[in-house]
Amino acid sequence: MQYFSGRFKEKASDLILDFHSSIDFDKRLYRYDIMGSIAHARMLAHKEIIPAEDAKLIEKTLKEILREIEKGKIPFSREYEDIHMNIEKILTDRIGEPGKKLHTARSRNDQIAVDMKLFAKDEAMKVRSQLLDMMSLLTGLAKDHTETYMPGFTHLQKAQPVTFAHYLMAYAEMFRRDNLRIKNAFELLDACPLGSAALAGVTYPIDREYTAKLLGFECPNWNSLDGVSDRDYLVELMNAFALIMVHMSRLCEEIVIFTSNDYGYLELSDQFATGSSIMPQKKNPDAAELIRGKCGRVFGDLQSLLTTLKGIPLAYNKDLQEDKEVFFDALDTVKGCLLVLHGMLETMTVRKETMLAAASKGFMGATDVADYLTKKGMSFRDAYKLVGSMVTWCMDHGYTLDNLPLEEYKRFSKLFYHDIYKEIATETSVERRKSPGGPARKSVRKHIQFMEKFIRNAAPEIEGYKLNDIL
Ligand code: ARG
Repeated sequence: MQYFSGRFKEKASDLILDFHSSIDFDKRLYRYDIMGSIAHARMLAHKEIIPAEDAKLIEKTLKEILREIEKGKIPFSREYEDIHMNIEKILTDRIGEPGKKLHTARSRNDQIAVDMKLFAKDEAMKVRSQLLDMMSLLTGLAKDHTETYMPGFTHLQKAQPVTFAHYLMAYAEMFRRDNLRIKNAFELLDACPLGSAALAGVTYPIDREYTAKLLGFECPNWNSLDGVSDRDYLVELMNAFALIMVHMSRLCEEIVIFTSNDYGYLELSDQFATGSSIMPQKKNPDAAELIRGKCGRVFGDLQSLLTTLKGIPLAYNKDLQEDKEVFFDALDTVKGCLLVLHGMLETMTVRKETMLAAASKGFMGATDVADYLTKKGMSFRDAYKLVGSMVTWCMDHGYTLDNLPLEEYKRFSKLFYHDIYKEIATETSVERRKSPGGPARKSVRKHIQFMEKFIRNAAPEIEGYKLNDIL
């Protein structure tokens, strides 16, 4: 490789060129690389380290190169290893001497560190925006379903009735935390590594505040060794991505269950379902299963980066190049899954009647019967035991708690009166659970209001976000 030609007598083997080269994947950082270079060139001129006219020419040419890359007119070469050297080579081929001055007081080590941070900031905001869309969708759906009663489960056994709104808002809450998790990671990453150079800063009078500000960072980072080797923010973002996948996967697992023949609570639109090549009757939730399945990649990507980082001595080591493919893969997967899940939820049909019928079966009023007795003076433990024996008796004799005649109720306890039927009706059972966070309309509406306010407040920061565009 010509770049290192000063030190080396022999040409690098093709095998090693291919092995080192990251251009096939880091080319997607071209925009951020050019932003970093322009900020660096302006700073060099501002500090009179290079002539102002050279910096101007560098900036003008880099912008031309950017436009050509965007039109697909620039072929990158593996011979120049990565995006940094490819762009620098194209620049120097075009403008000669001034182009060779760009790398003054800089190393590829701080260059890649700044590129990756700029990319991560830009993309993290896009994921936050998708999360916000998901939260709006879930909250909007919840508003329509505060009276759509359905079974609530523990151990996937019918437990107590809830509403579909209550259920959806549980997921809105998970995605809200995911959103904040990315925001936290974003705040921690907001220090600019440019100027850390190879590992030990530079001997030139650079202005790191100036470049940090130009690129929209809060400040320069404090330590050059850390500046070139910090990839914590990628771990944090990928941790947030992994949890988003966990949340989507849980929801998808329920989509698979709830669209199955025996449940039938939900039906996917034809657009988001698939058929079978042999069984004509099938309508399969493949997309939900794929989202569930793709968790494996994202968890693997996170694990892979953690493992890469754990034994790296300070400061830069080539191992760090392994951060890119895993981060890109996790990011692309999470964005793709959020998009598909949004479409799937937006177009599905909710079978209210089926949900209600399911909520009325399965002895889900049992806790309410026990509470009824407790409120009339029996201790909860005695009531619990008595109702347990009532359930067994009903099952043996083909009754449910709502069609068990009053005289049978009375045989179990004199405390039962006719009002027991109202007490165990699904609607009453849900609406009485108006403790904060519970499924009653009143409680869920409060949560919906809170969520709407959260979305309203977060939207300007997220939708209005733009990297400092020095291009
Ligand atoms: N492609 C490299 C990476 O992604 C850029 C930095 C290379 N630095 C070096 N000293 N080899 O990590």
